[in-house]
Amino acid sequence: MPRHYCSEEMSTLAQQSGIAEQIAALGAQWLPAEPLRAHTSLGVGGPADMIRLRDHWRLAELMDYLRQRDVRWRLLGGGTNLLVVDEGIEDVVIQLVRQPEGLKFEGSRVEVSTAANLGATVTESAKRNLGGMEGLIGVPGTVGGALHMNAGAYGTQIGDVVRAVTIFRGASGKLEVLRTEEVRFEYRGSSFAPDDILLSVTLELPEKPYAEILERIKQCNQKRRTSQPVNEKSAGCIFKNPPGLSTGKMIDELGLKGTQVGGAVISERHANFIVNRHGATAGDIFKLMDMIRERVHRAYGVALEEEVIVWKN
Ligand code: EPU
Repeated sequence: MPRHYCSEEMSTLAQQSGIAEQIAALGAQWLPAEPLRAHTSLGVGGPADMIRLRDHWRLAELMDYLRQRDVRWRLLGGGTNLLVVDEGIEDVVIQLVRQPEGLKFEGSRVEVSTAANLGATVTESAKRNLGGMEGLIGVPGTVGGALHMNAGAYGTQIGDVVRAVTIFRGASGKLEVLRTEEVRFEYRGSSFAPDDILLSVTLELPEKPYAEILERIKQCNQKRRTSQPVNEKSAGCIFKNPPGLSTGKMIDELGLKGTQVGGAVISERHANFIVNRHGATAGDIFKLMDMIRERVHRAYGVALEEEVIVWKN
């Protein structure tokens, strides 16, 4: 049952005194009852107490601070594949602040902060004649979010170019460097635990002439612009593709494009996208998702699995 509460009662941390000062002393910023709709590409979601960490190297200290106070937390990346419930989230939401010195190149390798923008990582690498990620160009969000989900498009998956990952292990409370062999990537998933916080990643990229990379980037951008609602508020594809099937095609064949619940609409451009066109609530989106699931199951006998990450209490 959803729990309703007012902003003064958000997280257990908010009820303690001197929090803003203590969090600031840890190199972070305290944002009580921050509306999560402002931090998600879908533009829906209620409030949560947020901590934005500038000094990433102090993550272990921050986590220790939260553990001592028994505070539950979640990590927010770019918020581009996320659906947050309207009543908000009781856990504290941690976000790593993007840093200007996010990318370090060495030969065909680049070490990237997970807070870096994925698209910028693709284009900055291209300028150094490093390709292999062209298909990911229009995928919005951070490098960290892309790694957790093993983001992919147009034949590229980020997991394919990963060499090493520096993570804060939720389970041990320690920083660890994992090599490729120690991480499993699969279709829209990885072996990272939900409480693993990815800090940086080393990518190994094939060398290619800049012009060639640019041409492929242009092709992918063009394909995406014509087949996806890139200028509308969405969280990308809502459901995964079942093996050998296309969810977008099935929803389209059922004639559901343009179906509207409240402010949420099934995109006319790509049926596996739900767009927030008229001030939608998360509730509107959940109703559309339930309807799609039910119709697809009835017509095709397939149980759709969510691709979007859903945050509820
Ligand atoms: N199709 C329709 N109607 C639609 C949408 C698609 O008939 O409304 C047909 C297309 O004509 C095509 C087939 O379905 O024959 C597949 O469509 P598309 O090429 O657009 O790819 P997709 O399988 O729907 C996947 C990823 C996208 C990724 C694209 C391009 C999933 C769930 N989706 O979409 O990823 O951008 O391929 O590689 O894996 C995302 O992860 O959020 C996402 C959007």
